[in-house]
Amino acid sequence: MKKITLGILACITILTAEVNIESCKSCHGVDFEKAALGKSKIVKDMTKSEVSAALIGYKNGTYGDSMKGIMYSNVKMYTNKELSTTGIGSSEKIQKKGLKSSIDLTSCKGCHGVDFEKAALGKSKIVRDMTKSEVSAALIGYKNGTYGDSMKGIMYQNVKMYTNKELSTTGIGVNNVIHTEPIKSSIDLTSCKGCHGVDFEKASLGSSKIVRDMTKEEVVEALLGYKNGTYGGSMKGVMIEKVKNYTDEELKTTGLGK
Ligand code: HEC
Ligand code: HEC
Ligand code: HEC
Repeated sequence: MKKITLGILACITILTAEVNIESCKSCHGVDFEKAALGKSKIVKDMTKSEVSAALIGYKNGTYGDSMKGIMYSNVKMYTNKELSTTGIGSSEKIQKKGLKSSIDLTSCKGCHGVDFEKAALGKSKIVRDMTKSEVSAALIGYKNGTYGDSMKGIMYQNVKMYTNKELSTTGIGVNNVIHTEPIKSSIDLTSCKGCHGVDFEKASLGSSKIVRDMTKEEVVEALLGYKNGTYGGSMKGVMIEKVKNYTDEELKTTGLGK
């Protein structure tokens, strides 16, 4: 009997590319809205990463309570990869519930969407795709007049009443750790942003060109030039420090520029 069961499971493993969610519904409800067997958490209220951690934990025997054996049989045939991409759970980018914010987010939703999933007035970035630190920097920048584009006046009105502390703990944005840079870069761009802006949209220290408006060729020429001492203005010393530890190859593939 045991052998047969194992045989069937082996087949399932081969046949299914990903986790068979149908098999979960008898216990967890069609929408994961039930406490399975009166025991589990309401899975749909967990975040995606909590769900992944739970499923992988059940497989490894590191998670769960008195009924974890049941869940072990439900997950043991899947790879960790499959268990972390089930799609079950709420998005952690912006958690609909439980996003405890230091500021009143309801006022933002008319423009940015209920989940910050829209380009506000067709103009802003999709805020939920920004990292938490980019969001804080933007909000504080709007308040101080050091960030923003042609519509920044609108955002100034939305943030001017908050303290910097409040603006840096809104909870909006993805965690920096899981942030996937829109620019795939050979070098660490986070170190650049303090001066050049989160999107390289600023004249660094009031002096540099706006890097995102430069062509890729110009950026490569500038970065290699700083390294070789053949490029730069009065503040080139600052940039020499930043680039000297990278290889030419890395400086040619930063992904910066248009
Ligand atoms: C036979 C009923 C049953 C089936 C089928 C089942 N589960 Fe569960 N599930 C449970 C029980 C009972 C628990 C609580 C286990 C414990 O004590 O830790 C649980 C816990 C969980 C948890 C963690 C919630 C918590 O309480 O921490 C997740 C996530 C989960 N199940 C997802 C799934 C997925 C995905 C499937 C399908 C692949 C599935 N379950 C199939 C009964 C079931
Ligand atoms: C009346 C519409 C409106 C409301 C309400 C509004 N925003 Fe905005 N938001 C905008 C626009 C337009 C921009 C782009 C401004 C610019 O040109 O820099 C923006 C930009 C942003 C940015 C930076 C994104 C980028 O493009 O760099 C963040 C973060 C942000 N808003 C968060 C919020 C938060 C939080 C609230 C609520 C407290 C809010 N907004 C309320 C319209 C709005
Ligand atoms: C401490 C502030 C600071 C940091 C951090 C910084 N830069 Fe700069 N950057 C500057 C200044 C100032 C200039 C203009 C230097 C000059 O006079 O040539 C500049 C110029 C540049 C230029 C050429 C633009 C022009 O005006 O010709 C590029 C490209 C550039 N930086 C990319 C980067 C990258 C990539 C990083 C991160 C690895 C970075 N910078 C980090 C301050 C900074």
